[in-house]
Amino acid sequence: MLIRLNRYISMCGVSSRRKAEELIKAGRVKVNGKIVKDFGVKVDPEVDIVELDGIEIKLPKKRYIVLNKPVGYLTQLGKSPDGKRTIEELLRDIPERVFPVGRLDYNTEGLLILTNDGELANRIMHPRYKLPKVYLALVKGRIKPALLREMEKGINLEDGFAKPDSVKVIRYENKNTLLEIVFHEGRKHLVKRFFFSFGYPVLKLKRTAIGPIKLNKLSPGKWRNLSKRELFLLFRAVGLKYNP
Ligand code: URA
Repeated sequence: MLIRLNRYISMCGVSSRRKAEELIKAGRVKVNGKIVKDFGVKVDPEVDIVELDGIEIKLPKKRYIVLNKPVGYLTQLGKSPDGKRTIEELLRDIPERVFPVGRLDYNTEGLLILTNDGELANRIMHPRYKLPKVYLALVKGRIKPALLREMEKGINLEDGFAKPDSVKVIRYENKNTLLEIVFHEGRKHLVKRFFFSFGYPVLKLKRTAIGPIKLNKLSPGKWRNLSKRELFLLFRAVGLKYNP
């Protein structure tokens, strides 16, 4: 893959793209040993050697992580203005700057994929690839099987029609119902708004899977690297080839 030199420098984490243009113009950047002053030049990260002030710069290692976001954390990096805890606190031991793929609400628990691979992240979120997102929802009240059939037909929400891929009762807990619901899109508060529109507020929500990636026994607040097998399956699910 060929990348413009200024973009390559910013992707290496050295500077912004604008600042990279200045570095190039100032003659501080060499490609394969020669000073290049044109930031439109393209480089192949697999082949070309790029140096800044005589020191080779490289793309950061691709990192793919799954985090079990606990309730009470915002899905964002950096500090929150109102002092709420953010997932950044849980990722301190990861040297690469990884970004969350999609969001979970402050009071939602569960699976978040984080990566610095922008192409994979875009595809996971794009509805075209129809990656199923699986949630366990505890809703207030007992939902009867006949209503489940209605729910499967979908309902109009204020931002458009919402139709789950499936919805089923796992068990009844006193006066409440624990359900598994699967959507292949990711709109804001989608699961909560969906159940609420049928008259059932969500009391607790947890995401347990995205496509082939499952949370399994990962405790809240903990993260792990995706395995080669999981990456192979995830890349394949979004039409990409995994080259470890
Ligand atoms: N749907 C919601 O309502 N909340 C989430 O965090 C994710 C899906």
